[in-house]
Amino acid sequence: MSKILVTGGSGYIGSHTIVALLEAGYEVVSIDDHSRSHDFIMDRIEQITGTEVVNHRINLVDRPALEAFFQREHHGITGVIHFAAFKAVGESSANPLLYFENNLVGQMNLMRCVEQYSIPHFVFSSSCTVYGNPESLPVTEHSPLLEPESPYGRTKVIGEAFLRDWVKVSATRVVALRYFNPVGAHPSALIGEFSRGIPENLLPYITQTAAGIRERLTIYGRDYPTRDGTCVRDYLHVCDVAQAHVAAIRHLGEHADAPSFDVFNLGSGVGQTVLEMVQAFEEVSGAPLAYSFGERRTGDVVAVYADNTKAREQLGWTTQYSLQDMLRTAWAWEQALSQSYNAHP
Ligand code: UFG
Repeated sequence: MSKILVTGGSGYIGSHTIVALLEAGYEVVSIDDHSRSHDFIMDRIEQITGTEVVNHRINLVDRPALEAFFQREHHGITGVIHFAAFKAVGESSANPLLYFENNLVGQMNLMRCVEQYSIPHFVFSSSCTVYGNPESLPVTEHSPLLEPESPYGRTKVIGEAFLRDWVKVSATRVVALRYFNPVGAHPSALIGEFSRGIPENLLPYITQTAAGIRERLTIYGRDYPTRDGTCVRDYLHVCDVAQAHVAAIRHLGEHADAPSFDVFNLGSGVGQTVLEMVQAFEEVSGAPLAYSFGERRTGDVVAVYADNTKAREQLGWTTQYSLQDMLRTAWAWEQALSQSYNAHP
């Protein structure tokens, strides 16, 4: 049985990926410093899968601590899936150095250890943010990388560049997965996304508004050149994103002749406007949602959605969850949160 190290294992996509890895028969060890996540997530993963996963509370920037972990634990690890990073666009603009240090120094330290212990496979969390405001749609992996709209986005562009250069001399092979807009939660409603403070992202803002935590959703901009004037994004279910990581690890193991650095778009291939998301959510929840229109948000791209042909053909990955599934599970998670925790400030 292969052992996979997941960094950021208590986070949103990390926790769903651990569940998918365990269900696919992998052994998993996690590193997460809980700076942006909760320590009870491993218990939730055990409730879902019946398997206990050990999390090591280490900040990747702390190189001695990370090296000590690898010295103790590297035996049997054949792959690393690297999620641990900060991801709030607004926060990154206010504090770029925090993002550069946390995301890039952390990644560097991890790459050092992966190299030292000759771990063969590495999967990197990237983002469609590397495409900026794309000139043609849908975006393929060959679409040009444009100037990122935030320091967060820059850490993804640079993170990919680090890996691209490194594989030329390293024995490790790398897959970078460029996520479009992951949403939803595990169907059990035991794990999902925790928003810190006022959510920046659309879906948590919608569900918190429906739950009465926020008064109303502000839709940023109504005069974009799209079918209803609001921005278009490619939303996909977090469990589908998780499955893509299992597929990427499997792909690296089964295709020794595959490129040493490869990228895949992870999107549904379908673009939805903000208004369409609101309307679909109203249908799923059975109640009208309070919203109004506001100014455009700085840095928002007009429209972006994926050509996911490469992931379908080479990883054998397809999305299994519908838009209704995304909204239903996001809403169930919000309701579970409201009942169980005092999670929203
Ligand atoms: N939106 C609103 N009101 C809100 C929140 C969002 O109208 O309160 C709109 C945004 O303007 C945008 C759409 O909903 O048109 C989606 O916004 P999100 O913040 O949910 O997602 P983004 O596409 O802006 O950002 C996501 C990730 C980032 C990543 C980016 C790459 O959250 O990490 O994609 O494009 F950098």
